[in-house]
Amino acid sequence: MNLYKYVSEKLNAALGFEAKLETPRNREFGDFATNAAMVMAKTAGKNPRELAMEILPKIQGLDFVASASIAGPGFINITLKDEFLWSAGKTAVEITPAEQSMIIDMDYGAYNVAKSLHIGHLRTSIVGDTLYRLGRALGHKMISYNHMGDWGRSMGMVIAWIEKIHPDWPFFQPDFDPVADYSKYAMPIEELDTYYPSAAALAKTDPEFLERAQVITADLQRGHAGYNALYNVFLPISLDSMAKTIKKLNILPFDNDLGERNAAKYIEPVEKILRDKNLLEKSEGAEVVVVKRQDDNKPMPPVMFYNSRGAVPYDATDIMALYYRKITDNPDLVIYLTDSRQSLHFEQLFRVVELMNMFNPNALEHIGYGTINGTDGKPFKTRDGNAAGLNDMIALVQNAVRERVAESDKKLDDETIDNIALAALKFNDLMHDLRADYVFEPSQITSFEGRTGPYILYTAVRLNSVLKRAGEFTAPENPKLGSDERNLLMELLDFDRTVSAAFENRATDMIANYAYDLCQLTNTFYHNCPILHESVDADTRNMRLTLVRMTVAVLSRTLDLMGLNIPSEM
Ligand code: ARG
Repeated sequence: MNLYKYVSEKLNAALGFEAKLETPRNREFGDFATNAAMVMAKTAGKNPRELAMEILPKIQGLDFVASASIAGPGFINITLKDEFLWSAGKTAVEITPAEQSMIIDMDYGAYNVAKSLHIGHLRTSIVGDTLYRLGRALGHKMISYNHMGDWGRSMGMVIAWIEKIHPDWPFFQPDFDPVADYSKYAMPIEELDTYYPSAAALAKTDPEFLERAQVITADLQRGHAGYNALYNVFLPISLDSMAKTIKKLNILPFDNDLGERNAAKYIEPVEKILRDKNLLEKSEGAEVVVVKRQDDNKPMPPVMFYNSRGAVPYDATDIMALYYRKITDNPDLVIYLTDSRQSLHFEQLFRVVELMNMFNPNALEHIGYGTINGTDGKPFKTRDGNAAGLNDMIALVQNAVRERVAESDKKLDDETIDNIALAALKFNDLMHDLRADYVFEPSQITSFEGRTGPYILYTAVRLNSVLKRAGEFTAPENPKLGSDERNLLMELLDFDRTVSAAFENRATDMIANYAYDLCQLTNTFYHNCPILHESVDADTRNMRLTLVRMTVAVLSRTLDLMGLNIPSEM
């Protein structure tokens, strides 16, 4: 239940106008406050205190209000009935569906074939997955796309490299047999992963090699049998490795792995629309769409549709991908999640499809996230100075957890260590404002105290163990609540609101920080309010156990929205 919304709506109905409800930091004077009297005083031609006195009885008359009083120049503080809060607690974990359910295409992950996943794919994967889960929980039809880089220049580079090291392979021979079985040419992923970096390095110094890679790219796209057969040898190796990382990250499988290659199939209909609308212009052998507007006050280069070799570049595949989504999903909204350096690309893209009358610009959204830095404030690199691979990052965090566990006298199995490490990595990613940079420091994010994933998991494990030790109990009907218990209950009743606010603002940090606040209040409660101790009477014990059960429900759901697993012990 969304307590804030419930109280707000009842209050407005009673007053007959929109009152703004505030949540005071300090609950000493009330659970909510409103400045309605101050805002309405002018129109009513009264002074605020006078008006407050007039509307006070209406607020006091609401069946869930315990007391309401006037403070200062005309604020009204409202305290809710414990009885009401307690019964609302039973539905705290329920998520109210969004008023309008939408079809939302989410484009995140966007991995590249034959290039191992690296640090740049971390935020798109983790944040994308959580946004997807949030949207789904709110009743939207979410459709995820791992828009794979599986058809562009890097494919040509990889094939050119293989040609260079294995010129005798059949794929490169004029008498190539397209129906034979080539599976024995499969290479281990570790080897495949080295091809692109080697090729890219060579292309920088060797223009002939670069030229060769470009010719191969265009030929591959045109259906060259040998290159396509070779492509089909390394594609599954790459996909298999991605699937393993996705599993390791505990993100939901993508609904679609359709990327650039699929998009390229729609070149004809898209080109037709562009030509019919006179949007394609020739430019130095290439064909482009001009997207510059008169009122632009920054550079807005044209979008390349065909390059001078007739191949379709990255820009163009995104137009076709949107065309594909339009004719299949017909989404109300498309959300892209990439590094903020791609902002211009998406601005250009959105202009093209607006010119094509395909999508309204407010149905398209690009979220550009910040950089993951090391403690030196520069983009995080491994010791050898390279951009970190995603698997390396996971291993770094796992090792940091292992060290911590070894220092303490805990004995935890590998699965538990992996779950703690994943929580450390993901929670740290989610708790930061997604548009800002943040620092990645394995030893800090694995601490069992403070704003960290392990702290959240530890709290959940502790609550589960209380319930386990308690055995069966009955929830009391209308118990007396102390202030720590009441504070915790109020926070539980803010879960529903947080879920919708986090999604609406595309702010995954709201859900992560909610988990932290909830754990803080839980631990204060746990510290101040004994539960299973023999000195505690049965009514109090059952009330506190019920509160623990409600908290476990909400906290588990929150962790699930972040794709985290609660270990059985820690
Ligand atoms: N594969 C690209 C990369 O790794 C990102 C693609 C983002 N999504 C898109 N629809 N353009 O840089």
